[in-house]
Amino acid sequence: MAALSMTEFENLSSFVYRKTGIRFESKKIYFISKRVQKRMQSLGVQTIDEYIRLLRFADLKGAEFQNLVDLLTVNETYFFRDFPQLQAFAEHCLPEIAKAKVDQGKYNLRIWSAPCSTGEEPYTLGIIMHTMLDNVKQWDIQILASDIDRNVLENARLGIYAERSIRDVPPEYLNAYFKTTSKGDYRINSDVKKMVRFEHLNLSDKDIVRDKKGFDFIFCRNLLIYFDDLSRKQLVDHFYLALNPGGFLFLGSSESVGRISTAFKMKRAGSHLVYYKD
Ligand SMILES: C[S@@+](CC[C@H](N)C(=O)[O-])C[C@H]1O[C@@H](n2cnc3c(N)ncnc32)[C@H](O)[C@@H]1O
Repeated sequence: MAALSMTEFENLSSFVYRKTGIRFESKKIYFISKRVQKRMQSLGVQTIDEYIRLLRFADLKGAEFQNLVDLLTVNETYFFRDFPQLQAFAEHCLPEIAKAKVDQGKYNLRIWSAPCSTGEEPYTLGIIMHTMLDNVKQWDIQILASDIDRNVLENARLGIYAERSIRDVPPEYLNAYFKTTSKGDYRINSDVKKMVRFEHLNLSDKDIVRDKKGFDFIFCRNLLIYFDDLSRKQLVDHFYLALNPGGFLFLGSSESVGRISTAFKMKRAGSHLVYYKD
């Protein structure tokens, strides 16, 4: 099968963009071609136009679109990714929110890891909560972990990881929160696992995202780089509504809301600057 032409690539890209918010740069044409051709071959479809027609008109339940998305997403992640930022969360933001909750007599914490990929980020947050909170058992903690890709969620729910994923886990946490399996992989501790609820969700689906409310912390790390300004703005505006007053938003190290929203305020948390809702 020949590689996609630039026009075919653009037609498919804008279709995917409208549904997911992900904007593919034209330099990604080879990467996209390979993956799309895999789907076209297994369906016996000859041209990209035919494939897009199928996605538009014959894919009523969205099953083929989901197959395509599962192949196109970039799922790179690992435990304790961006340690300095997590330190700011653990040593400054979490104690601040926890104290405010204790003062109000409300022992609950709500966190959203959006997107969570294979689960390393929400489980990392679970480990941090478990370690940092005094008397963790008295807290009602829920970590919502969502992603558009079904395959990564399946792995996340298993909670078993290879060496590569745990490479940045501090040794004392590795001992305390993981058990090695007979195959030499690492299984996450069940108390941490219980804190996390996984959900298949498209962050560009406004109706679904609009229903998410009441979070103290939202982590949306390493996703906005794949979005354009418009889809970034829509999502960040939703996050603002989804946070409780005083709640924090954490983005990836190369991402910022500065250009797209003025709603969030910034403040210092240790050596880090963090976004919060006033
Ligand atoms: C690079 S991973 C980031 C994982 C983790 N937050 C981290 O920083 O390590 C990006 C994830 O975003 C997911 N994703 C892409 N578009 C999405 C969308 N529209 N809705 C929900 N998840 C999406 C991908 O499936 C992928 O797992």
